[in-house]
Amino acid sequence: MSKEPQKPDPSADDSTAVLERPTRRSFLTRVGAAGVAIGTGQLHSVALADSDTNQEAEAPAAAIASDDSANIHVRLNVNGTNHELDIDPRTSLLDCVREHLHLTGTKKGCDHGQCGACTVHVDGRRVNSCLSLAATHEGEAITTIEGIGKPGALHPMQAAFVEHDGFQCGYCTSGQIMSAVALLHEPYGHSDDDVKEAMSGNICRCGAYTNIVCAIQQVRRKV
Ligand code: FES
Ligand code: FES
Repeated sequence: MSKEPQKPDPSADDSTAVLERPTRRSFLTRVGAAGVAIGTGQLHSVALADSDTNQEAEAPAAAIASDDSANIHVRLNVNGTNHELDIDPRTSLLDCVREHLHLTGTKKGCDHGQCGACTVHVDGRRVNSCLSLAATHEGEAITTIEGIGKPGALHPMQAAFVEHDGFQCGYCTSGQIMSAVALLHEPYGHSDDDVKEAMSGNICRCGAYTNIVCAIQQVRRKV
């Protein structure tokens, strides 16, 4: 004799089972909410919501994702021009110059501090802009590749890269040049090996290293 399939008991409380078996969605929501909280100082409110039901835990992330009130106001000086911006506090300096100021000469390679394509200057020092929050640079002078020279008035380092074919595809080139310009004021030795060491944070997938070193050494000999 076959058994009738059992119908679920509507009076049964399954909230415990739901909490013990997080769905992929609820997991991602919690991770996202925690990330937002760390960036905006709202960890306390997220922790409170998380201690109740899943439905309540999802509310802060959804609210923040669609709410520009989480943005902050920053004043940045880029290439000598002051900019007033309302940005998400998690915005990297790289995304800020590219997406908000449309200075796309600075490139995103790895977005993890490993390639140097995003190199800019902050108060004259080279910085991987993908690893730095834009909001931390108020009151500092930010310089991108657009700020060091222009067509017809190239920086000597830009001109040297052109003269020595210090690039192939060009994707790494703005970062290479920004590092090379900063290097002019750094206490490295005079040899090619010193230059290679100083430029080791800038990766060139095309392998234009030999010509890059020639270009940099030409400019170093003149300063
Ligand atoms: Fe910043 Fe690669 S994009 S180091
Ligand atoms: Fe292509 Fe460097 S010129 S990655």
